[in-house]
Amino acid sequence: MRYDSITEAIGGTPLVRIDPAVHGLRHIDLYAKLEMLNPFGSLKDRAAWNMTRDRLAGAAERGETVVELSSGNTAKALALISGLHGLPFKSVTNRMRIPEVKELLLLLGAEIEELPGRSECLDPADEDDPLTLFHRQLNLPGSAHLHTDQYFNALNTEAHAAGTGPEIIADLDGRAPDWFVACVGTAGSSTGVARALRAHDPAVRVIGLVGEKSDFIPGIRTIDEVQEVGIFDPATYDTLEPVTSDEAIEGMLTLLRRCGLLAGPTGGAAYFGAVRHLRELDAGLTERRTAVFIVCDRVESYVGYIRRRRPDLLGLPPVRNSVATLTEAEVASAAVIGVDEARAWIGERHPLVVDLRGPFAYAALHIEGSVNIVDELFDELVRGGLPFGRSRPVLLACPVGEKSARYAALLTRMGHPDVRSLAGGIIAWRDAGAPLVRD
Ligand SMILES: Cc1ncc(COP(=O)(O)O)c(C=O)c1O
Repeated sequence: MRYDSITEAIGGTPLVRIDPAVHGLRHIDLYAKLEMLNPFGSLKDRAAWNMTRDRLAGAAERGETVVELSSGNTAKALALISGLHGLPFKSVTNRMRIPEVKELLLLLGAEIEELPGRSECLDPADEDDPLTLFHRQLNLPGSAHLHTDQYFNALNTEAHAAGTGPEIIADLDGRAPDWFVACVGTAGSSTGVARALRAHDPAVRVIGLVGEKSDFIPGIRTIDEVQEVGIFDPATYDTLEPVTSDEAIEGMLTLLRRCGLLAGPTGGAAYFGAVRHLRELDAGLTERRTAVFIVCDRVESYVGYIRRRRPDLLGLPPVRNSVATLTEAEVASAAVIGVDEARAWIGERHPLVVDLRGPFAYAALHIEGSVNIVDELFDELVRGGLPFGRSRPVLLACPVGEKSARYAALLTRMGHPDVRSLAGGIIAWRDAGAPLVRD
């Protein structure tokens, strides 16, 4: 294989059958589409190249910077494509949650701009979200940017409708699979592949996988977050099913240890979600059927992510004081108070108010007198024991009140006598018109 440019090596990834002795399905052949074998390391190589290829020459002439709102694989592919064409690349995000990816992006020459925002995904209806404002500025005429706009760009979906989907059909000897299973981030890959497969055979069933609410699987969105994506259309999916980070890691371990596939967590989530969905159906089948799932990227960048969730896999002692160990009953019994009650309580008892959001969101607007301990750091702090004395009450606040409720439950279990969580988080506080200050 000889190429004039590395971009010619994008696509044409292998479709590999998973050993039935591993997945246990008796009538279904299960295949993995190995998108992590794209040259920049993930399925986003296709979207990044399709969104830029016709615009790079013009952008170079005008001296533009390539910009994308991404903290992961799209940014990585765009950084490499930009460097290859002599253009600067800037990644804008509200939080780089995987330090290895942030460091890699810097190594690739990317500029990283972290802005506050409710989530990395955009909500065009939210006028106050700095990411939304930034997004709007990028699209104004005269902006010196080549903005690839992956959450709204049809070329993202198109890359998979023209490439990934037809490749699957060709590798299955001209037939579409009976089921197609994919994790949903921007929704570009699942929507594009689904379109190509259904054009070939409308009977294909499409299973989209999203992260369980208030859980985090890097690269994919929860059911709430995905609604904010411009190219997401719920009609694409016959079913949308949640996957937890534990399930994603369990699926990933099977791919790593039994299948010879160096898959990352979303590959594991797709495998886990596929087998879970197909197991029941398999029992009623008499004829052979076929299913395909996507392995998006490789495992190496996620070792830190795995260390925090499953230290046992790395030979480390288990973490006792972690929200991951809470039972649903513990979470449900956390003390949660609304904005009015919280304001009265602050006035009377002067609790320590801890804001768990990122530093940029905190700097933009926060409750007066609160301290900022970003949730990842808070997670580390509580591992070593109670981070505050027992005598002062504590009010925890996060963007929407979900994480803070879990931490309130954890601190209560660790013996703090009066920890409360702000219901609805800083968003509810803001919506109630309660005062917020800026740094
Ligand atoms: C690791 C990982 N898996 C899955 C996806 C989902 O792909 P899509 O954006 O096409 O929905 C992404 C997207 O960024 C990703 O980074």
